[in-house]
Amino acid sequence: MGYAKSLNLFFRVKLFHIREQIHVIVSFYRCPSFALTDLLLGFCSLFFNPYRMANGIYGETPLRTFRQLILAADLSSKDHYIELGSGRGKSCLWLKHFIGCKVTGIESVSLFVRLSKFLSKEAHFVQKSMFEVNLSEATVVYYYFFDHRWPLFETMQAGARLITISEPFPSDAFEITHVLDIEFPWGVTQGYIQIRKSDRLLTHKMN
Ligand SMILES: C[S@@+](CC[C@H](N)C(=O)[O-])C[C@H]1O[C@@H](n2cnc3c(N)ncnc32)[C@H](O)[C@@H]1O
Repeated sequence: MGYAKSLNLFFRVKLFHIREQIHVIVSFYRCPSFALTDLLLGFCSLFFNPYRMANGIYGETPLRTFRQLILAADLSSKDHYIELGSGRGKSCLWLKHFIGCKVTGIESVSLFVRLSKFLSKEAHFVQKSMFEVNLSEATVVYYYFFDHRWPLFETMQAGARLITISEPFPSDAFEITHVLDIEFPWGVTQGYIQIRKSDRLLTHKMN
C-alpha cells in the first residue's frame, strides 16, 4: 500500500473511532453505571495493547453496530447470550446494562477474561477455547472472528439465533432471517442473523 493510501486509511480509522466514541457518550452514558464501566475499561486498557495480547488478531465490534445487530436479533432480558471470543468484554458489558439478559463471554486470553470479570460481577466470563464450547444453553450466539474454522453451532437449540459477521454459517441446520449492512472501522460489511432449525424439520427436509 502506498504512503498516501496508508495515511488516508489511518485518518479514516481515527475519524471512525472519534465518531463512535461521541455516539457512545451521547447515547449510552445516560446510564451512569455503564459510563463508569466504559471509562474504567478505557483506563485499564491504557496499560496493554489488545492487538498484541491477541497475537495481532483483534478487532472490536463498535457499539453502534452491535446495537443494530442486537435489535435485529430481537434480544430480550429472557435470552441467554453467549459471545465467542469476547475480547475485552465491551459488548457483553453493554448487553448486561442495556438488555439485562444472561451473558456469557468465552475468551482465550487470560488478561481479557480477568479484566471483564473485574468490570462486571453479573456477566459470566470463561477462559476457554470457543471451538470446544457446547452451545445448547444459548438462545443467542455472537461470533466475530477472522478464522475459517467454525465453532460447534450445531449444538445450539432449535429457535436459537446466531449472529455472524461477514459470512453466514454454511449449514442446512440454519436459516438466514436478516442480512444487515453494518460498519466496522475497516469498512462496511454484512451481519447475518440465522435461526437454528429444529432437527425434526431437518429430517423432514432430507426426506
Ligand atoms: C475479533 S475479536 C472480537 C472481540 C469481540 N467479540 C467483539 O466483537 O468486540 C476475537 C476475539 O477472539 C479471541 N479468540 C481467538 N481465538 C480464540 C479461541 N480459540 N477461543 C476463544 N477466544 C478466542 C481473541 O483473543 C479476541 O479477543
